[in-house]
Amino acid sequence: MEDSVTARLLDWYDKCARVLPWRSPPGTPAPDPYRVWLSEVMLQQTTVAAVIAYFTKFTERWPSIAALAAAPEEEIMAAWAGLGYYSRARNLVACARAVMERGGFPESESELRALPGLGAYTAAAVAAIAFGRRAVVVDANVERVVARLFAIDEPLPGARKAIRYHADSITPQSRSGDFAQAMMDLGATICTAREPRCLLCPLTSDCAARAGGEPARFPVKAPK
Ligand code: ADE
Repeated sequence: MEDSVTARLLDWYDKCARVLPWRSPPGTPAPDPYRVWLSEVMLQQTTVAAVIAYFTKFTERWPSIAALAAAPEEEIMAAWAGLGYYSRARNLVACARAVMERGGFPESESELRALPGLGAYTAAAVAAIAFGRRAVVVDANVERVVARLFAIDEPLPGARKAIRYHADSITPQSRSGDFAQAMMDLGATICTAREPRCLLCPLTSDCAARAGGEPARFPVKAPK
């Protein structure tokens, strides 16, 4: 089943990927790592809809990591105003300067993880999307999709280990960046938290939660 899930999802992404300013269309060269990193940091605690305007503003004003690294911190903090979670902006400045000092972004997940502000999710996302490295990228959307596909009965947060195991099992060797973004799009637009739109889902015939008739029951939450 794993191979068919992966293939169906990538096919769906080729046809239905959301057009977002930090993406390059499926099948075209990977986007600039600076744009991937900036978008992923902005998306850490903020919705896609809210990030688009900030991303556009930042990349017009600072079109490269060199430009961002050279900017006064107060200007970057001021431009960030409204996005919230200001430690992200402080880390953004520190990370831009660290990357310039080392002569560019590292490409491996472990080296990316060592940069200011890059947690496990962001390091995996940048390695996969910007550098084509195979990485298992798990955010809340991916967690929901995987918990449903495999009908993982264990409640969160304990289920995270099983979710990661299954996410790994369906992540392809190549195109893992497209695969990750396809999972995020599916979670954001079809496999939504409430009332998932299973009739539109490319994975409906593979989905254990759908087969059980109660997809929205997953991921199971720990009783309060
Ligand atoms: N959320 C976080 N990163 C994303 C991405 N690259 N595409 C869509 N949604 C996302």
